[in-house]
Amino acid sequence: MKISEIIVAVLMLILSCLAFANPVVPDGDTEKGKEIAAGICAGCHNSDGNSIIPNNPILAGQYAEYTAKQLREFRADNKKSAKRDNPTMASMVANLSDDDMKNLAAYYAQQQPQTGVNNTNDESVLELGEKIYLGGNLDSAVPACSSCHSVTGQGIPPHYPRLSGQHATYIFSQLQAFRHGTRKNDVNHSMQTVVSRMSVKEMKAVSEFISLLK
Ligand code: HEC
Ligand code: HEC
Repeated sequence: MKISEIIVAVLMLILSCLAFANPVVPDGDTEKGKEIAAGICAGCHNSDGNSIIPNNPILAGQYAEYTAKQLREFRADNKKSAKRDNPTMASMVANLSDDDMKNLAAYYAQQQPQTGVNNTNDESVLELGEKIYLGGNLDSAVPACSSCHSVTGQGIPPHYPRLSGQHATYIFSQLQAFRHGTRKNDVNHSMQTVVSRMSVKEMKAVSEFISLLK
């Protein structure tokens, strides 16, 4: 082998490794995901995952690992209730395989997210929300949401979901679900601990603030 051939071979190897390590390429078949999304999910989450109904979350642009995890955890396991107990979504995932879930998650991760619905323009509410989101509440030991979900609400993959622009009504419903234990799929109970220290007023305010983040 000539030296120039060796150099070319090494360069090809490096290039193929780079392509393989590219984190933007999700683990899943987006075309297959798109097909299931159109058939089952679009009625509630819209065809590209940008739900316009404030109770139904926007899925577009969410990290694939997070979405696939949610789909698995909506599934009830024999006698045990699901880690994320929601009857509507439990019936939606009942007949999906783990691969279907990965494909759906990969499809939604590639869609461009739109901004959801907020419910108030009240400055004092949004100011309280911003204070909690960026600085927490020292008196009651509520940590800043931004420490895990990032300052802009883009989240930190793979564990900390993107929140920015999500419907305020949906966000508030999840804070309530963590509080009441119908949702207990947060590793180390990080979210359950956070919300146990928050007032309803704080939860509402931070939900409104997050829905306006871009
Ligand atoms: C009948 C309406 C409906 C249909 C159809 C539906 N969903 Fe949902 N989905 C919901 C609702 C309501 C929630 C909020 C559940 C909760 O409060 O925990 C939700 C939550 C989710 C979440 C959690 C998002 C997050 O940010 O944590 C994912 C992921 C999801 N749905 C994916 C799907 C997929 C994939 C399908 C199709 C296979 C589907 N949904 C079909 C209503 C629906
Ligand atoms: C210590 C880290 C941590 C902090 C601090 C934190 N979160 Fe979270 N949060 C998480 C993790 C981890 C999840 C994902 C749980 C899962 O896998 O289902 C999550 C999930 C969520 C969800 C569900 C998103 C969805 O699409 O359903 C909401 C809403 C949320 N957090 C809001 C907040 C708010 C508001 C604050 C501040 C008051 C906050 N979080 C502070 C770690 C954190």
